[in-house]
Amino acid sequence: MLDHVRPVPVVEAADLEADMHGTFATYRATHPLIALAGGGYVVLRYADVERLMSDPRLQATETALPHQAGLTKGALFDLFEYGMLTANRETHARRRAALSRALARESLEHFRQHVRDAASLLIDARIADGRLELVSAYARQLPILALARLLDVTDDALPTFERDVLAMNAFFRPGPTPDAVAAAEEAALRLQSALADRLDQVDAERPGSFLSTYKTTAGEHQLSPLEGLMQIVQMIIGGTESMRTALVVEIAQLLGNRNQWESVCSHPTLVANAVAEALRFDPGIAGVVRVAVEEIDLGGWIVPAGHMVLLSAVSALRDERVFADPHRFDLSRPSLNLARLAFGGGAHRCVAEAFGRAALEEGLAVLTERLPTLRLEHSPTVTGHVFVRETSECWVRWQH
Ligand code: HEM
Repeated sequence: MLDHVRPVPVVEAADLEADMHGTFATYRATHPLIALAGGGYVVLRYADVERLMSDPRLQATETALPHQAGLTKGALFDLFEYGMLTANRETHARRRAALSRALARESLEHFRQHVRDAASLLIDARIADGRLELVSAYARQLPILALARLLDVTDDALPTFERDVLAMNAFFRPGPTPDAVAAAEEAALRLQSALADRLDQVDAERPGSFLSTYKTTAGEHQLSPLEGLMQIVQMIIGGTESMRTALVVEIAQLLGNRNQWESVCSHPTLVANAVAEALRFDPGIAGVVRVAVEEIDLGGWIVPAGHMVLLSAVSALRDERVFADPHRFDLSRPSLNLARLAFGGGAHRCVAEAFGRAALEEGLAVLTERLPTLRLEHSPTVTGHVFVRETSECWVRWQH
């Protein structure tokens, strides 16, 4: 009904980035959604975001995003064409089941230990310096090193693996330059070919390893060789890009609220609360992107069919209707389980949530054990309202 339709406010992306939490809070009070001047709609409130994550009128974007970026073939394009994240219905379910079953059989405790080993290694490398830059010297490398162990990357192949993961991931950040896209394509090709070789050899080399289990589950779910490969590459992207900013936020927020850092140092059981509150306060993934295949009506504010929709975790996780005093970082808030929205929802809900939480827990726990005197030199700024979020440099120091 036309007289029922209410005007949706249009917001410039630059204005949003200038004060993301403030802008979202202002609109959230009066509107369930905003439109972005460059195209697309952003859903703001927790209850709507959670509900719409499972709404079949919103579908994964398949190859729409690479097409928009002028990409129609190649190793990066294949990630969208053959990966689970952008797939729908049975294709998605089949691709996801293969990885999900292999992750379920991999011991989480095993992975925790990979993270702890990687964290110790990174701290040992800088311990004598008395200070480090958290993003480049810790948060960016930690998940790559832990995943490399899970995927049996050998020590001599590790520097190439690390370089290629970083170069490939640059494609998924806002506004990559043409040079960055070309480098990401080359890196994705090299990574895919190295992984294909490892998958070929894996049974003979290490029966019982994660990759050999995955090879079996990929066969059971009839994944083609390219599909089989792409779920692992998506796992690498998901497992590294989601973690970088999340790790920096949890450490920086605790250090910026010194009494909470000291509580975690003296009560390690609080580590899980710190992870949940950090994911709520500033999630590393801004939200999930979908396309509306039918019109969506949110109390008279309409998303027309055919448009992109961002279900914003950044906004929802500070929704005053759900979280009291939402702009305060508080380990003791009663509703911490609701931070689960940071892992998405519905059919695409993070397939490795337990692994993500474990990495954030151990990445923090090792720091509190090894460097309880850690201090923040200045707070980082977190940006990005669409998918992967970025953090500025964050220097920390300690006494030794
Ligand atoms: C703090 C850590 C993490 C966060 C916040 C996070 C967040 C998310 C979110 C929001 C989604 C849903 C995306 C969508 O619906 O469009 C997702 C999906 C996914 N995540 Fe994670 N993730 C984390 C850790 C990980 C890890 C450690 C891995 C792999 C080892 C991983 C692999 C994936 C994959 C493969 C998907 C696609 C699932 C599907 O499409 O069915 N994530 N993640």
